[in-house]
Amino acid sequence: AHQWRGVVREYAARLPVTETTRVITLGEGGTPLVRAQALSALTGSEVYLKVEGMNPTGSFKDRGMTMAMTAAVAAGAKAVVCASTGNTSASAAAYATAAGLTCAVLVPAGKISMGKLSQAVAHGATLLQVDGNFDNCLDVARKLADSYPVFLVNSVNPARIEGQKTGAFEVVDSLGDAPDIHVLPVGNAGNISAYWKGYKEYCAPYESATAGTLPAVSTKTPIMWGFQAAGAAPFVAGHPITEPDTIATAIRIGNPASWDLAVAARDESGGLIDSVTDEQILQAHRWLSAKEGVFVEPASAAGVAGLLKKHAAGEVPSGKTIVITVTGHGLKDPDWALKNADGSSIEPQRVGFDVVTVAAALGLEGEA
Ligand code: F0G
Repeated sequence: AHQWRGVVREYAARLPVTETTRVITLGEGGTPLVRAQALSALTGSEVYLKVEGMNPTGSFKDRGMTMAMTAAVAAGAKAVVCASTGNTSASAAAYATAAGLTCAVLVPAGKISMGKLSQAVAHGATLLQVDGNFDNCLDVARKLADSYPVFLVNSVNPARIEGQKTGAFEVVDSLGDAPDIHVLPVGNAGNISAYWKGYKEYCAPYESATAGTLPAVSTKTPIMWGFQAAGAAPFVAGHPITEPDTIATAIRIGNPASWDLAVAARDESGGLIDSVTDEQILQAHRWLSAKEGVFVEPASAAGVAGLLKKHAAGEVPSGKTIVITVTGHGLKDPDWALKNADGSSIEPQRVGFDVVTVAAALGLEGEA
């Protein structure tokens, strides 16, 4: 049986590698494209979720990190650095371990989830909690890589975008063509840029560096719909935000690095970048777990929140194919599932170990 070999080997002809490249992989990619039953019923379109929480470290970052770490090794790097709201640091730490490199990560103090923090620590990264936000962390990481012998693995490194474009390839390979609309959360804006690059490359003949001219795989490219958290929505404002704030800490970013690429993805595709409130994000988070059976972290629900917002405004077409990338696993930041909409906590009921009490607690009728 065919064993998935990770995105770099699966898509080698379309990535900056050759047969002799030492590929650093943990088997990322090949994630499920799940039909969203409730969203499909609601909209009258075929809605699918690209479930990126199924990657080795639980987020889409692994697609970019396999390529970035492969490039770091090819460049002879001994140490890597990144700024992160959590998922990039978890991924960098794991892939640096696989590569045998040391890893330093800069995260905003008090603003990353416990799950992500523990991943970076578990994999042996040096984790520094910076008194500042993500944008400050990225600024320092870039300066560090400019002046010291450390290799930057943030998405300003083009290798990251190259790896992440494979998400679009997998969607087309699963559906047989590109969807009509692709929806995703936007933070530092690497992923929307990467998907758009992947969709464009799959829709035209491709000059491979190693495999000659590859024919087009899809007949069209999708419209790209990106959604930011309302308190951290620089693309909606049209300028960077100095004090970004949202409960969706993964996308708490005010000055996205891939600004121009994301604007190009939006405009070339005829799409949009809009915002959703924290309340809408948490509603979509509950929708995904309670109606679709898919558990994500809050930031990952921003795309679904956006689709629900557009549907309420009558702006989601029926009869189309819509793919939403849900970017990270619910176990990264599980506390949100144990809160009600009003913020009060959910306490699972406690019972004794006799069957009559348990049956009564479950509302079951019958004879014990
Ligand atoms: N969803 C999750 C779960 C993320 O962790 C991120 C970004 C995004 C969406 C947004 O993607 O930045 O490509 O627009 N997390 C980065 C990090 C910033 O450090 O983990 P983007």
